[in-house]
Amino acid sequence: MENLKVLFEEEKIQKRIKELAEKIDSDYKGKEVVIISILKGAVFFTVDLVKKMKTPIILEVMQVSSYNGTESTGKISIIKDLSFDIEGKDVIIVEDIIDTGYTLKVLKENLLARNPNSLKIAVLLDKKERRKVEVLVDYVGYEIPNKFVVGYGFDVDERGRNLPYIGYIE
Ligand code: IMP
Ligand code: MG
Repeated sequence: MENLKVLFEEEKIQKRIKELAEKIDSDYKGKEVVIISILKGAVFFTVDLVKKMKTPIILEVMQVSSYNGTESTGKISIIKDLSFDIEGKDVIIVEDIIDTGYTLKVLKENLLARNPNSLKIAVLLDKKERRKVEVLVDYVGYEIPNKFVVGYGFDVDERGRNLPYIGYIE
C-alpha cells in the first residue's frame, strides 16, 4: 500500500493491548465474560486481547453495516447476529475504532435490549474529535487524530487489514 506512514508499530500495539487485558482482568475478577467481536476489523484486536486475558471468556462475533456508504449514519443493519443468548451475561463489545459513534451507539442499544447483566465497550482506537453522538467507551487503546488508518484490521476497500502495524494515509 502506497504512501502509508506508521502510526503504531506492532510491538507498541501489543504492549498497549496487554495493559488493556490486565485492566479487564482486574475489573472482572472471578467472572466469565462474553466477548463480542465486531467483524471484520476488530478480529485482529480481539484475538490479541483475549489471548492476553486470564478471565474466562465466551467468544461471539457480530457483523453490522451502516447504510449510507462509508460515512456512518444512525442506521445500521445486522449482517451476522449472535448465536448465543446474552441475557444475564457480562458482555464486552470489542470494536476496532470509534469514529462518529453511531455504530457503537446503535449496537449498544440493540444489545442492552437483550438484558445482559453488564455491557462494556473496548475499542483499540478513538477518533474523539469526529464524534457526533455520545457513547461511553470503557476501554480505549489510543486516542488518535482525524486520520484514515490502515492495517491491523483497518482496511481501505477491504485491503490492508493484514499489515501487522497501524499506518495512516497521508
Ligand atoms: P462510527 O459509526 O462512525 O463510529 O464508525 C466506526 C466504523 O467506521 C469502524 O467500525 C470502521 O469500520 C470505520 N472506520 C472509521 N474510521 C476508520 C479508519 O480510519 N480506517 C478504517 N476504518 C475506519
Ligand atoms: Mg468496522
